[in-house]
This record gives sequence, C-alpha cells and structure tokens, in this order.
Amino acid sequence: MIRAEGLTKIYRMGDSEVRALDGASFTIEKGGMVAIMGPSGSGKSTLMSIIGCLDAPSDGRYSLDGESVESLDESQLATVRGRKIGFVFQQFNLLARTSALENVMLPLTYAGYSGKEREARARKALEIVGLGDRTHHAPNELSGGQQQRVAIARAIVNEPNILLADEPTGALDSKTGVEIMSLFQRLHRENGQTVILVTHDSHVASHTERIIRLSDGRIVSDEANQNPIRAGL
Ligand SMILES: Nc1ncnc2c1ncn2[C@@H]1O[C@H](COP(=O)(O)OP(=O)(O)OP(=O)(O)O)[C@@H](O)[C@H]1O
Ligand SMILES: [Mg+2]
Repeated sequence: MIRAEGLTKIYRMGDSEVRALDGASFTIEKGGMVAIMGPSGSGKSTLMSIIGCLDAPSDGRYSLDGESVESLDESQLATVRGRKIGFVFQQFNLLARTSALENVMLPLTYAGYSGKEREARARKALEIVGLGDRTHHAPNELSGGQQQRVAIARAIVNEPNILLADEPTGALDSKTGVEIMSLFQRLHRENGQTVILVTHDSHVASHTERIIRLSDGRIVSDEANQNPIRAGL
C-alpha cells in the first residue's frame, strides 16, 4: 500500500522556487490500477519520481507497505526501489545495439543471480509480454510497441509489486497504445501488480480503475472509474 500525506516538492533555482508538488495526499491499495492526469507542468512526473523512490519530497510523509520512506538517504531509497518498483518511460530507454534479452537481464546484474538464472528470468519476462520469439533483436529491429514491451519486461523482471509508467503510450499510435494498456491490465489482474501511470490521453486513462488529476501540484480530483475499458476483449 502506498500512503502519501501532504507531499510537497520545492525546486530552488537561484532566488526563485517552483512548488512542483503542493500538499498531495492519497493512498493507493495494493493491486490498484491508477491514472495520473493533468496539464504539462502540473507535477505528474515529480509525483512519480517520489512514488518511485527516485527522489525525496521536500515536505510531507510517504510510506510504502507501512515503511516510512520520506527520510531515507539515497542508498536506502535505491534498495527500496530495487525491491519494490519497476519503471516504464515514454521513450522506452532501452540500450541500443543490445538484444532484448540483455536489456531485460540488466536489472538483475547486482541481484546475486547466476548468469543462467538471469537469462532464464529474462526469457520468462519476455514471454509474459509476448516477445519470446524476439530475444535476440536489438531495439532498432523492433517496432515501437515491441520496444515498449521489452521495457515492460525489464520493469517486471525483478517481480516488483509496483509498476510506474510515465506516459507509456505517449510515443505510440493509439492502437499500439491500447495493446500496451492490455498488457498492463493483464499484469495487474494476473500478478496483482499495482500499476500507476501518467497519461494525457483520457482514452488510455479509461482503462484504469481510478483517475487522479493534478493542477499546480495539487490533487484537484480523485475519482473511481466503475467501468474500466477492458482492452483486448
Ligand atoms: N529538476 C527540476 N528543477 C527545477 N524545476 C523542476 C525540476 N523538475 C521539474 N521542475 C518544475 O516542476 C514543475 C512540475 O514538473 P513535472 O515534470 O512534474 O510536470 P509534469 O506534470 O510531469 O509535466 P509534463 O506533462 O510536461 O511531463 C514544472 O514547473 C517544472 O518546470
Ligand atoms: Mg512529466
């Protein structure tokens, strides 16, 4: 469970300051699927990096599964992140000239697995995202949707219980975007993963169970979606 109370993030730039987040409070139950929406600059990515333990808030409380994380230092945050969180980005962020399999094996490098185990786990993750037959393709030999699926395989290879995706469909056409949403829905349904994604696209958001809207760093609405669209059905 994710619990945030009064999350505030202030960026200081010389004499001026930007209040990127301004007292955001919410809880997200384990296994929830949530969209975060809001205009450009409203604080969505800032919020995602705090939820994902990439950055600490300037003020407020934040806990993950009952463990308070707002005051952890860099290396402690990195440990929590490695155990619990998988990230997916708009631009996929895959290593060029590196096979899908090796891209997916990367997060396991320091996890203490043997080479064989790493490869077996990466193959399994690629099969889950439907790319068991593309393990030796490099990113430039894959379509955009396939590249995003490799990125999702990389995000789930450590079996994190929280998946965070910042505009995961932003670089894809709408049909491919829906395929990616279908994959997130399956991970959410079958593995019970908590999925939190940022999107500008209300059709993408309609595939989730709850929509949180930000404006100027504040939550301006937080609504359950009783009838999420089931992609791929
Ligand atoms: N590292 C930083 N240093 C200074 N200001 C920052 C930094 N990161 C973000 N900001 C500012 O904080 C505010 C929120 O930024 P954020 O990236 O969270 O917005 P966003 O909602 O993700 O926007 P977009 O939809 O364009 O991605 C913006 O005004 C931005 O300029
Ligand atoms: Mg952003």
